Amino acid sequence: MYNSKIIGLGHYVPENVVTNDDLSKVMDTNDEWIQERTGIKERRHVVKGDGDTTTSMGVKAAKVAIERAGIDKDDIDFIVFATLSPDYYFPGPGVLVQRDLGIKTVGALDVRNQCSGFIYGISVADQYIKSGMYKNILVIGSEVHSHGLDMTTRGRAVSVIFGDGAGAAILSREEDTSKGILSTHLHSEGQHAEELSLLAPGMGNRWVSDIIADNDPNDESYLPHMNGQFVFKNAVVRFSEVIVEGLKANKLEATDIDLLVPHQANLRISQFIQKKFGLKDDQVFNNIMNYGNTTAASIPIALTEAWEQGRVKEGDTVVLAAFGSGFTWGSAIIKW
Ligand code: COA
Repeated sequence: MYNSKIIGLGHYVPENVVTNDDLSKVMDTNDEWIQERTGIKERRHVVKGDGDTTTSMGVKAAKVAIERAGIDKDDIDFIVFATLSPDYYFPGPGVLVQRDLGIKTVGALDVRNQCSGFIYGISVADQYIKSGMYKNILVIGSEVHSHGLDMTTRGRAVSVIFGDGAGAAILSREEDTSKGILSTHLHSEGQHAEELSLLAPGMGNRWVSDIIADNDPNDESYLPHMNGQFVFKNAVVRFSEVIVEGLKANKLEATDIDLLVPHQANLRISQFIQKKFGLKDDQVFNNIMNYGNTTAASIPIALTEAWEQGRVKEGDTVVLAAFGSGFTWGSAIIKW
């Protein structure tokens, strides 16, 4: 058995900055409300026609991660792509990355676990590497939310939160099993699937032809729906549980955490977790202020920035944790 280790990280966000004041020009909202409830100051939105897509941003992030890992694209044995906003209904973006990076015909897997997608992705990659099947795996989280948001007052409770961007990691075989990803912990509770969801178009629900035929201006089925307070209450409980589970599995205490990189759902959720575990400001990494919630991309973007800022050093105990639509949640305990 081997361990897997993150040997390269990269991120890409579109250039177009959308501030809270920009949003207040198109919907009834304001900077004070958004910052107070979410901590978000600005986010990035792709500009339609500029060429940024979920796949292309993932490719840009991946190129940086591959270069920093010091490997060649031909060394990649497998691709895992996590997103809720794929370019096409099918095929998923994993194969598009294989094509656009000119990688040989390795397997490409798409992960549909929303905000927990990156943790699910590295968990899958970790198992392949642990078993000896693959040596180097590219894991990407990327999202274009902005195309699908309701940018009117009707959609404000959701639309102000989400942003676009991508992050990528190279996981590689590590012979020293005291290093790298020590364990991952995954959960789901489908009972609450519709509480944070986008229901149409769907084969089991309303297809595109139904939406067109109805031509109903009040149709919200193809817009994201979020029961905000219910999500918040579940998030703080599940985040805490899954961090405790990961620490216990490795006989660690909260005091052993050098850096917690939580999924950037809402700054209030991160602050609640920080307080609950008694962590100092420098033990938790947040960048939701600048990017909003980028779902599957949020952890790899945050981890990349933390690494770039020297906040992750060799030997550190790094904890990743996420909660989101599904509901799904998970954690990863890493010895850097
Ligand atoms: N700007 C101004 N007012 C807004 C608004 C906005 N963008 N969005 C909603 N409001 C209004 C509501 O209409 C409501 O007005 P009313 O009291 O007149 O009816 C009021 O603000 C309170 O709305 P509510 O939805 O109860 O706010 P909240 O305190 O629950 O905050 C969230 C909303 C979304 C910020 C909060 O529930 C949250 O963060 N939930 C978790 C979301 C999350 O983390 N999602 C990602 C999980 S991965």
